[in-house]
Amino acid sequence: MIIKPKFRGFICTTAHPQGCKENVRKQVNYVEDKGTINDVKNVLVLGSSTGYGLASSIVSGVACNAKVIGVSYEKEPTEKRTASPGWYNTEALGQFFNEKGLEYIKVNGDAFSNEVKEEVINLIKEHMGKVDLIIYSLAAPKRKDPNTGELYSSCLKTIGEPFTCKTVDFHTGEIMDVTMPVATEEEIEGTRKVMGGEDWIMWMEALSKAGVLNENAKTIAYSYIGPRVTDPIYREGTIGGAKKDLEKSVAKIDEILASVNGKSYISINKALVTQASAAIPIVPLYSALLYKLMKEQGTHEGCIEQIYRLFEEVYGDRELNLDEEGRIRMDDWEMAEPLQSTVKEIWPGIETSNVYELTDLAEMRNEFFRLFGFNVEGIDYEADVDITTVK
Ligand code: NAI
Repeated sequence: MIIKPKFRGFICTTAHPQGCKENVRKQVNYVEDKGTINDVKNVLVLGSSTGYGLASSIVSGVACNAKVIGVSYEKEPTEKRTASPGWYNTEALGQFFNEKGLEYIKVNGDAFSNEVKEEVINLIKEHMGKVDLIIYSLAAPKRKDPNTGELYSSCLKTIGEPFTCKTVDFHTGEIMDVTMPVATEEEIEGTRKVMGGEDWIMWMEALSKAGVLNENAKTIAYSYIGPRVTDPIYREGTIGGAKKDLEKSVAKIDEILASVNGKSYISINKALVTQASAAIPIVPLYSALLYKLMKEQGTHEGCIEQIYRLFEEVYGDRELNLDEEGRIRMDDWEMAEPLQSTVKEIWPGIETSNVYELTDLAEMRNEFFRLFGFNVEGIDYEADVDITTVK
């Protein structure tokens, strides 16, 4: 089949297996070039197929020589329909790990369910004995509470007041105003149930109860704060409320980890184009501006660069950069004051006529296509490919 991108807004319904494989290869090569970090024996990555979780799996294996169990929830291919990019990514990752004598154990299922937790615990017992690091990198639209069976949805709304701000249609470059509606109490709670700390706590309780946490086990969940311009929609909106709930869970998880002298962390990561973040209004335009400024400064990082630096802080020689609330600040370069002042200065003047000069929108759009395996250098997009596998 010859595969072309088919977009509906922020969703692409096709993915290119070879392009996805090439994306994974580039990240593997990056880590190999950077070199090894101290060994970590066994790592569990929840949300391992794309974005920050994929990068975490790669760094765990390639830099820290770890055995990795990766959980994700991806669409498998059929004879007629391509898989979701995460499915191809994890297939490719398994192949690269194999070639290097590393082990990647893939679980494709709903991480929120009791069944997947049980399956993973059995896999840990069988392949690892105990686990040393758990990365929590899920970004999901819905969660079924495994105990009550109730289905919760997350939403992107403001809390308190509606908020109008400019955003960009990154397919056309058109700048327009968008008004974010106010969330109801039910929507605030729904978002907390999906993206807050409840499931992270459930995972850590289940792993502890099963006796599969190693001495000094660590767990890290990813969060975001961001600048003033995105505050009303992000940090002070429904998703920010859920992230605050996630961050608060550290106290409870540290109690769970006390018996193995373990420790939990929140890592505040940088704004990057991923499937999850592209859907948030304002964020793509902010990211396009951020990319341009950080590239000019030489401080731009993608997921793999961010996570490599994070692992250097947690397991290597780089000093752990904690804020006063004990969170790891991987967004330090993004949030640096001179850079954010420049963002504030440029932001009001961005219009349809100058968006490609003032921001890195063209490259950001390219990066969005690349998430699905398109616009990847070296791939022949006119060639017939088998969509049921990654070669
Ligand atoms: P992503 O959309 O690239 O990855 C989400 C992952 O979750 C995928 O592997 C997907 O398969 C998995 N997943 C979703 N629902 C699942 C389920 N029910 N069961 C099992 N797996 C499931 O997202 P991204 O951007 O890498 O986000 C990961 C974390 O990093 C999120 O917590 C996000 O808030 C955080 N973060 C993201 C930033 C960004 O700018 N992209 C910035 C800072 C933090």
